[in-house]
Amino acid sequence: MNFEETLGQRVSEAEAVLKHYLSREEGYQKEVLEAMNYSVLAGGKRLRPVLMGETFRLFSGKGRLVEPFMAALEMIHNYSLVHDDLPCMDNDEYRRGRKTTWSVYGEGMAVLAGDALLNAAFETAASAFDLLEEEENADPAQQVCAYRAVAKALEILARKAGVYGMIGGQCADIRAEGLPAQEVTQDLLLYIHENKTAALIEAAMMIGAVLAGAGAQETEKIEGAARRIGVAFQIQDDILDVTGSAEVLGKQTGSDEKNHKVTYVSLNGIEKSRKDVERLSGEALETLRSFPERSEFLEQLVESLINRRK
Ligand code: IPE
Ligand code: IPE
Ligand code: MG
Ligand code: MG
Ligand code: MG
Repeated sequence: MNFEETLGQRVSEAEAVLKHYLSREEGYQKEVLEAMNYSVLAGGKRLRPVLMGETFRLFSGKGRLVEPFMAALEMIHNYSLVHDDLPCMDNDEYRRGRKTTWSVYGEGMAVLAGDALLNAAFETAASAFDLLEEEENADPAQQVCAYRAVAKALEILARKAGVYGMIGGQCADIRAEGLPAQEVTQDLLLYIHENKTAALIEAAMMIGAVLAGAGAQETEKIEGAARRIGVAFQIQDDILDVTGSAEVLGKQTGSDEKNHKVTYVSLNGIEKSRKDVERLSGEALETLRSFPERSEFLEQLVESLINRRK
């Protein structure tokens, strides 16, 4: 199989896992369930669960333990997008080629759908403990390690999505909208990119590593690689907001300018932005190539993000 075929297969697997953990749209809360599923099932690249699953494989992870975490992280990613698109944040009407959740279900329902996806994510991730209980004849020492790994993975998920991760970055992102130019520094911009976007990519790869039994040193190296992949990913997102096609992207371009956002492009220009995407991706690849086990697919995936058009 070539890269595109393998990617297609991995994305389908991630979608099947995600669908398995979604709730049925019924009861008095039917509308919020519809809004949650509308957001999650709109497509999307499924990059985070694919990265998680592949990092799990890189460290020789076996079995289904990673699956509830793949679904959980994609739920958190979608919650972050539902809230990011709200009129009180980026005020965007299109995502993945269709109307954003708030513009279909109203703002109140979109706020609740985002909140509910975050809760559903932790409920889903915690169900990994049930998978451990179902496993028979496991060696007791290995079983203890597996329980510890799941607990550690939950901690990573909570921290990287929270105020010292995605929410922290989103907070600085909206505050920076009104700052005078001299206060918008490269440091602030890096804080925003490392947190609003890289933190969830770090969660993806670190959780994959931890659940496969990787040690602290390996997990730290993975965190560093994921940070670079995540910052490069957000720089490319900023580039595409200026140069991309709304049709291909599925979201309107010019959103950052409309909102007076600080972006990598507004601060550094397109050329340097492009170079930095390449440099950061190259550094991440160097780390990935330094492990005794290699994943050609993972390396190709990181390379493919450099020139992505959506
Ligand atoms: C969009 O993320 C938000 C950013 C962090 C730039 P993606 O580009 O991964 O969105 P989908 O899931 O593929 O739509
Ligand atoms: C979004 O960054 C990051 C998160 C949702 C956490 P952007 O605001 O640039 O993402 P898009 O361009 O709307 O997808
Ligand atoms: Mg935003
Ligand atoms: Mg946005
Ligand atoms: Mg953007």
